[in-house]
Amino acid sequence: MITIAIDGPSAAGKSTVAKGVAKKLGFVYVDTGAMYRSVAVYCVKNFIDVNDVEKVASVLDKIDIELSIDGKVILNGEDVTMLIRTKEVDKLVSPIANNVAVRSFLVNKQRAMANDISIVMDGRDIGTVVLPNANVKIFQIADVKKRAERRYAEKIQNGEETTLEEVEKELERRDLNDSSRSTGALKPAEDSICVDTSNMTIEESIDAIIKIVKEKVGI
Ligand code: CDP
Repeated sequence: MITIAIDGPSAAGKSTVAKGVAKKLGFVYVDTGAMYRSVAVYCVKNFIDVNDVEKVASVLDKIDIELSIDGKVILNGEDVTMLIRTKEVDKLVSPIANNVAVRSFLVNKQRAMANDISIVMDGRDIGTVVLPNANVKIFQIADVKKRAERRYAEKIQNGEETTLEEVEKELERRDLNDSSRSTGALKPAEDSICVDTSNMTIEESIDAIIKIVKEKVGI
């Protein structure tokens, strides 16, 4: 079993690249951000204040999240693949990600997913907390202007109304939140390899990571 952890800030292209790496290697891809986003969606649907730390903690046992092989995100039987990417959820996910009970609930699920299959898992704390013994740890970055452009294009394509400035501000706000929390903060694992994709295409980023994987684990 081989485990690859890819961490980094918002919209650094992690999920697209991680998906591509998983496909080329025949591994399963696990998008942990989708899991935090799904908890936020559960709260919206059930009129729960995402800032009410104890209330959110008390409903976790009612939440079932499934990540299907074809990339769908299923929350308690409902397909929320599109819903989790909205502007509203971008805002609500930060207090959810700061909630220690949510983190421990999802980290346990993520570890279980990595138990007996080869996987590529992306997030913020995969190499540091979730899978500290991962075979390969990548810290994927890109400069904020590039990240904002990429995320803006995605949002426009999904039919959302927004501006480049709004997207950039939102990324910076979430990065600051992710870097400054005490549990599961965004930071490179000591044994991670940094990949800067600012000037790389998706294909180049995938190839760069596959090369690192091959060097590290000899597959
Ligand atoms: O797509 P984007 O990079 O903007 O974010 P994401 O990977 O979908 O994650 C959504 C949010 O979940 C992030 O802003 C983080 O606050 C949180 N998250 C986390 O705390 N830990 C993870 N392992 C993954 C995501």
